[in-house]
Amino acid sequence: MQAKPAFSCVCTATTMKPPRTASDSTRVPWGTPTLLAPMEGVGHPDFRHLMAERGGIGMVCTEFVRISRAPLSVRAVRREVVRSPGVPLCVQVMGNEADKMAEAAAVVMDAGADAVDLNLGCPAPRVVRHGVGSAMLRDPLLLRHVVGTMRSAVRGPFSAKIRAGFDDASDVHRNASILVDCGVDWITVHPRRRSDHYRGVADWRIIASLARSFDVPVVGNGDAWSARDALRMMEETGCVAVMIGRPALRNPWIFQQVEALLAGRSPVEPTGADVVGHLELVARRYRETWSREPQAPLGKLKELVGWLGRAVPDGGALRKASLREGSIEGILDRWRLEVGHRSPRELDLLADGHLGLERSGTTLAG
Ligand SMILES: Cc1cc2nc3c(=O)[nH]c(=O)nc-3n(C[C@H](O)[C@H](O)[C@H](O)COP(=O)(O)O)c2cc1C
Repeated sequence: MQAKPAFSCVCTATTMKPPRTASDSTRVPWGTPTLLAPMEGVGHPDFRHLMAERGGIGMVCTEFVRISRAPLSVRAVRREVVRSPGVPLCVQVMGNEADKMAEAAAVVMDAGADAVDLNLGCPAPRVVRHGVGSAMLRDPLLLRHVVGTMRSAVRGPFSAKIRAGFDDASDVHRNASILVDCGVDWITVHPRRRSDHYRGVADWRIIASLARSFDVPVVGNGDAWSARDALRMMEETGCVAVMIGRPALRNPWIFQQVEALLAGRSPVEPTGADVVGHLELVARRYRETWSREPQAPLGKLKELVGWLGRAVPDGGALRKASLREGSIEGILDRWRLEVGHRSPRELDLLADGHLGLERSGTTLAG
C-alpha cells in the first residue's frame, strides 16, 4: 500500500506542473541519466577521471567550491574547473552572498564548465554556522535572492541541489517553488532533512512528489546502492536521472551497470581481482598526483577502502585493519590476500545487489 507522504504540498499557482513536453529533455546537458555526486574530499579530479573512464556517467559534479566573504579569487575558482574527457562537468558552488555567487558562477561557466550547481544541502555544522548549504533551506527570502541573482548571471545550465528541508520536510515544496520560479534548469533532491544527516533511509516519496508537482526536471539522489536500485528510483519516482555518491565509492562499476541495464545488456560482474586492480590503479594515480606529499595518497586510499570494504561480506575487520596500515603497499597486500580470490557472488557488487548489505530507498512505506 502506498503511504501518505510525510509532508504537505504547498505548490504555488505559478509553479504547478503542466504536462511534460519533449523539450524538457533539452534542458539537461547529459545523455545517460546518471550523475556522479559532488563529494567533498573524495570528488577531486583524479577520482572523477577514474570514474568517468569506466563509463556510464552522464555528468560528473565537483565537490563544492566555497565562495566566502573574502574577495573572489578568479584564479582559484577557475582552477576547480577540471574536465574529465568525454563527460560533461558540473561545478558546485556554495555561499550566500548573491553578487559573489553570481560572479563565481559566471567565472565557472566561462572557464568551461557545462553547468553550475548551487549547494543547498550540506549538513556540516561548520557550514550551517555560516548560514550556507542546507541552512539556506530555512531562509526563503535569502534563497530567492541568491538563486535569482545567480540565474541572471548564468547563461548556461544552472541547477540546485537540495535536501528535503532543514529540520522540516514540509518545506520541500516551498523551496522547490522558489527554485523553479527563479528559473533553475533542474533540481537535485537528496530526500533527507539536514537534521537527519545520513541517518535512516532516503525517502524517495519526496523525489516522486517533486517530480509529479513541478515543471522542471528532478534528479533523484540517495541510497541507490545498486544499479537495479537506480533504475527502480527512476521508475518509482519519475525522476529524469539518478545522482549517485557513496554507492559509487562502494561499487566503482555501478554506472557501467546502470548503462548496461538501460541498454538491455548484461552488466559487468566484478571479481575480487577486479577490486584489487581498481585499488592498484587508484593508488598509482594518487601517487602521481601527490608525489610531493607522500602521506596524502595513503589517507585518500584509506577513505576509499572504507567504502569499498562495505561491499565485502564480513568486511568490517578488513576495513579496520586497512585503516591501521602504515603504507599503501600494506593495504594492497591485505586486499590481494583477502579479496583477490573472491568470485562475483562472494562480493556485493552485482547489479542487483544480491547480498543486500545496504538498505536502499523506496517510495513504499516502511
Ligand atoms: C564524503 C562526502 C562528501 C560530500 N560532499 C558533498 C558536496 O561537496 N556537495 C554536495 O552537494 N553533497 C555532498 N555530499 C552528499 C552527496 O552528494 C549525496 O547527496 C549523498 O551522499 C546522498 O547520496 P548517496 O546515497 O548516493 O551517497 C557528500 C557526501 C559524502 C559521503
